[in-house]
Amino acid sequence: MLGIWTKLVALAMLAFAVAMPLKAEELTATSPDGRIVLTVSDGGGHAAYSISHDGNEAIRSSRLGMLFNDHHGFEDSLAIAGSTTASHDATWEQPWGERRMVRDHHKELAVTFAAQEGPARQITVRFRVFDTGVGFRYELNEQAAFQGPIAITDELTQFAIGADADTWWTPSRQFNRYEYIYRKGLAGTVDDAHTPVTFRRQNGVHISIHEAALVDFSAMSLLAARPGDFEAQLRAGSDGVKVHTTAPFKSPWRTIQIASDAVGLINSDIILNLNEPNKLGDVSWVEPGKYVGVWWEMHIRDRTWGNDGIHGANNTDVIRHIDFAAEHGFKGVLVEGWNIGWDGDWFNNGALFSFTETYDDFDLPMLSEYAAERGVRLIGHHETSGNVANYEAQMADGFALYQENGIREVKTGYVADAGDIVRYDENGVKQYEWHDSQFMVGHHLRVVEEAAKHRISINAHEPVKDTGLRRTYPNWMTREGARGMEFNAWGTPPNPPEHISILAYTRMLSGPMDFTPGIFDLRPNEKPPLRPDMQRGGADNRPQTTLAKQLALYVVLYSPLQMAADLPENYEARMDAFQFIKDVEADWEESVAVSGEVGEYVAIARKGRAGGEWFLGAVTDEEERELSIPLSFLDEGKSYTAQVYRDGTHAHWDHNPYDIVIEEIEITGGDDMTALLASSGGIAVRFIAK
Ligand code: NOJ
Ligand code: CA
Repeated sequence: MLGIWTKLVALAMLAFAVAMPLKAEELTATSPDGRIVLTVSDGGGHAAYSISHDGNEAIRSSRLGMLFNDHHGFEDSLAIAGSTTASHDATWEQPWGERRMVRDHHKELAVTFAAQEGPARQITVRFRVFDTGVGFRYELNEQAAFQGPIAITDELTQFAIGADADTWWTPSRQFNRYEYIYRKGLAGTVDDAHTPVTFRRQNGVHISIHEAALVDFSAMSLLAARPGDFEAQLRAGSDGVKVHTTAPFKSPWRTIQIASDAVGLINSDIILNLNEPNKLGDVSWVEPGKYVGVWWEMHIRDRTWGNDGIHGANNTDVIRHIDFAAEHGFKGVLVEGWNIGWDGDWFNNGALFSFTETYDDFDLPMLSEYAAERGVRLIGHHETSGNVANYEAQMADGFALYQENGIREVKTGYVADAGDIVRYDENGVKQYEWHDSQFMVGHHLRVVEEAAKHRISINAHEPVKDTGLRRTYPNWMTREGARGMEFNAWGTPPNPPEHISILAYTRMLSGPMDFTPGIFDLRPNEKPPLRPDMQRGGADNRPQTTLAKQLALYVVLYSPLQMAADLPENYEARMDAFQFIKDVEADWEESVAVSGEVGEYVAIARKGRAGGEWFLGAVTDEEERELSIPLSFLDEGKSYTAQVYRDGTHAHWDHNPYDIVIEEIEITGGDDMTALLASSGGIAVRFIAK
């Protein structure tokens, strides 16, 4: 076999290489615990990889490669020209997060493939193998064959799963962005899926495919190359090119989380570990916490964003929310509809939004001061309706205004059909882009960086998907990027009972979500309309959960900015249950997914950073279940008082959602706790050490 150096020298001497048969080479790397084995090969001139877990096949041999517009690509006649290995074991601290300390323990294998035909050129694929999966990215160095601008036309990465794997997925390239009800079916029936997408193979291996550190690239979806075998589909820009770049460049990491059980997918930090460390320096101004807001009332049509007689963002109502927040210990009050531009058809009038002019009945300085005196602050809102050109022209001024008024968190919004983001190109021509295009990937970082200058944190709705950039930009705190609570107000249909027990194993693997939990009036659709033109949602438009499940969401769905989404009066009517929302934290020392099955149920425990207390949340789908939850996260043998909020024996999401039992029981760390979950029910527990 040719030595690596001999090969490199031979290649360097060939400006134009000719086909030369090389012996196929195969390299392997294993995870630190030895359970995951990665194999990389160049058989038949193709770059390929495969992965096994505990000897079971996870990913069958799958292609690697990339094609360009004006440059020779990497598709065939490739040979391994060299490789390096490394291992890494270090622990780093998150300023806020689902755990404080994160261990990055992996083995690295970087493989350089050289083309054997056409101009001499090389591409390196860097693999990192963790105990919980594999990440890899392409690295194209500066070289003679890649001068000037590069246009990527296709990434050839494949993920050969097999047609018979169970799959939980949402469709890509559809008008409603990431906001689809999850589909469950065999992998062979999936055509084009957003990531993260979750598979359970017949051999029991659980897999989630996604990407990490999506920077200056377009997002990847999984396109069926053959039934059950997927190919990376990069979102094209308005000019048809998928990615514009120059050498050197690095692609985002393609991530393959692997576990023998469902919760193993949740208990993984691969996505964060594959992102760069904090680039912002001191981020002590980024502060997790809970908030309330002038929000749900618009979605259930009690109020409007625009100024038409029942304008939500009016001084009186905002003061009522500030008082409520101050009384019950919430840090923030979100106010939507405060700025000019909402009147009329705001969905289609993004160019009319002002991010500095308020409606007359909303006095920003007065309200900010009123809030500050009570230890509360307003949370800002920038809805763009997808007109990013209008927003980019104003956002610095918008953030400056908010900063002057003590605002430290801003919710952004991009309500527009997928593919309808407005920008103007260098010739002043209007162009339409996708929410997950290279342009939008860049836009979100421009927003986050501008916001950081004003010490403001971002919660993006209708965003690009999360790829762990909160590690690098800790002020990018949370986002939407899936169907949230709002769909229960007006979605046709609303979120089904199984929604959360799928979300926990799919969307939530990518990072925090501003789902906006905590609806207490579970039948808002039955209130008579306030005005004939303010018709509420349909007969199904209510959260299809029990009350206890609403509480459990605070632990199950991680978000460092966590909303108590219902109206103050609905909480005032149920102060006993509301106590859990007051007690639960939004920032965690540690998190453990304890048990569950994708699409059926999930139990997650988290230890609060401020109080050091453990909380537990478990939810089920339509099936009622008796769970035996191991309390192994608590100190073994130690006694605790558990404040339990659970479904009553007759609870049922459809006909008896309010049946809740709130009780204190004594438990011992290490024991199992039995929990009865009603149909679409849940349990929420706070553990107080004795
Ligand atoms: C959609 C967001 O998800 C929602 O939270 C917001 O209230 C509306 N857009 C208006 O901006
Ligand atoms: Ca939305």
